Amino acid sequence: MRRRIVAGNWKMNGSKDLSEKLVGDVRSEAVSLDNGVEVVIIPPAIYIGDVVKQAQGAVSVGVQNVGRWQSGAYTGEISPGMAKDSGCRYVLVGHSERRQLFGESDEMVAEKVSLVVASGLNAIVCVGETLEERESGQAEAVVAGQVRTGLSSVSQGEWQSIVVAYEPVWAIGTGKTATSDDAQAMHAAIRSVLKDMGAPAEEISLLYGGSVKSDNAAALFSEPDVDGGLIGGASLVAKEFMSICRSFP
Ligand code: G3P
Repeated sequence: MRRRIVAGNWKMNGSKDLSEKLVGDVRSEAVSLDNGVEVVIIPPAIYIGDVVKQAQGAVSVGVQNVGRWQSGAYTGEISPGMAKDSGCRYVLVGHSERRQLFGESDEMVAEKVSLVVASGLNAIVCVGETLEERESGQAEAVVAGQVRTGLSSVSQGEWQSIVVAYEPVWAIGTGKTATSDDAQAMHAAIRSVLKDMGAPAEEISLLYGGSVKSDNAAALFSEPDVDGGLIGGASLVAKEFMSICRSFP
């Protein structure tokens, strides 16, 4: 059975106080979840040490980005090895905000994925089309290209460290969610690209992200190829986030 995962990407939000309160509230509910879902918190990097301590293993922790190097003169960067050393289990790679605002290419995503996996971490690799690409009928081709290039460095024994998150750019923070049919169609297309690449596609968890809330999560998570969610805004409210974590059929 594929891993069910719900990951909360806090982006550049919160404070030390909010982080403490949020992790405490999420943790206290996560310990009694009985649906096999792995709850992941992905806070701003500066809070990771505190979040790991407070999560006490009941909630996994991830980092929103890493550099393409393990150490050296790269002011401002964090390496995958450091993320691992600080207690992270997951790394987000290629989020559309990184692609759009910081110029991350599919080739850079591939380099990061390679280092992340070699460091013993799991990569949550984000893909997704813009509104323009969807309206011009390019959505599947764009996403397939991102998957093929972004995961081109993954070797046969490494696929168990890969999670793919489909986040249509037009659905992020906009309140517009893909319909569960559209999400399912894209997830099935991603799975078939993974299969074509020689990956154990049926074992790879595919998450949907983009305006997931407690009132649409159940429909999305009941689709056969949607194995969980990558949640932005709604992960900043513990009750809402935990209600999403309980939304599996
Ligand atoms: O990584 C999560 C994300 O980009 C979705 O954000 O706020 O639309 O849930 P949001």
